[in-house]
Amino acid sequence: MHHILDPGPALLAEAPVEVIEYPKERTLSEEAIRGAVEAQGCQGILSQVMDPLRQTVLSTPGLRIVSNVAVGFDNIDLDAATRHGVMATNTPGVLTDTTADFAFTLMMAAARRVAEGDRFVRAGRFNGWAIDMLLGQDVWGATLGLVGVGRIGGAVARRARAFDMRIIYTDEVPLPPETERQLGATQVGLPTLLREADFISLHVPLTAQTRHLIGSEQLAQMKPTAVLVNTSRGPVVDEAALAEALRRKVIFAAGLDVFEREPEIHPDLIGLDNIVLAPHIASGSVRTRSEMSALAVRNLLAGLGGERPPNLLNPEVLDRVAG
Ligand code: GLV
Repeated sequence: MHHILDPGPALLAEAPVEVIEYPKERTLSEEAIRGAVEAQGCQGILSQVMDPLRQTVLSTPGLRIVSNVAVGFDNIDLDAATRHGVMATNTPGVLTDTTADFAFTLMMAAARRVAEGDRFVRAGRFNGWAIDMLLGQDVWGATLGLVGVGRIGGAVARRARAFDMRIIYTDEVPLPPETERQLGATQVGLPTLLREADFISLHVPLTAQTRHLIGSEQLAQMKPTAVLVNTSRGPVVDEAALAEALRRKVIFAAGLDVFEREPEIHPDLIGLDNIVLAPHIASGSVRTRSEMSALAVRNLLAGLGGERPPNLLNPEVLDRVAG
C-alpha cells in the first residue's frame, strides 16, 4: 500500500495482517506492483488511482483483494479481477459532498476568473478598481448541465438549487420522478444539454463509451459563454480539443481537476488564462481523505477475513470462490 491517513494505519495495526508500505506518491508500473506482490506473497493491495491494476497484477497467485482508495476504479480491470477470483472494492459515499463542493469551486473560480485575478494581483497589475476589469459570468440563475447524475452529480445539483440555477442532465438511467422534482432537474439529450447549459459539469465514470465524450464537436455546440468543469476522469475530455477551443474562445472557460495523462498536463493548457487547473484534489479535504482511508481499510480487512467487503464491485467473484 501507499501512505494513507488516520485512522487507516491504526485499523491495520489492530488487525492480524502484515503491512508493506511503498514510498509516498511514487507511481508504480504494473510490473513493479506484480513483482512486489509476488515477492512478498501479498494477499491484498490497498491501491490508489495512479496504480494500474490489470491482468499482470491481478493474475498474481494468492492475491485475494484489491481495495481502491477512491470511488473511481478505472485503474482496475474489473473483468480480469473477476476472472482471477480477486475481489475489488472502492470508497463511494464518503467523498460525495466534498467532491461536489470542489466541482462548484471550479465552476465559480472559472466563471469569476479567480485564478487569473490572483495572478493579476501578484504580478502587480492591480492599479485600482475598473468597471470592466476581469469580468466573468454569473453562476446564480444560470443553466447547469450535468453529464451524469449519480451521487456526485446529484450533490452538485443540490448546491445549484441554492444558486437558483436551472438544472438539466443526461444519464443512461433517468432519476426517479420524485428526485427530479426535489432537485428541479430535467433530463435532456446531450446535444440539448451542450446547446442550453451555461455550466457543464462532468460526472461520468471513465469507460470505453465516455472516453473523449467531450471533443471538438461537442465544444463547438456549447455557448461562447459556457464554462466546462471536469472532476470525473481526465480522458472524458479531449484535452487538445479543449485547449484549442479555449484559445479560440469557442467557450468562455474551463476548470479541470483531472487530466488525460496524470500527472502530465497538456502543454497547450498551461499557457491559457481561461482555465483553472487543479491537481486531482476534488475529494481532498482532511476529513474526507481520512474517511476514504478508513473505508478502504475496512473493505480490505473484510475481504482478507473471509467476509463480504461493504463496497464490493464484483460480487460474482464470491460465487466463484464459494463454487
Ligand atoms: C478520485 O478521483 C476518486 O475516484 O475517488
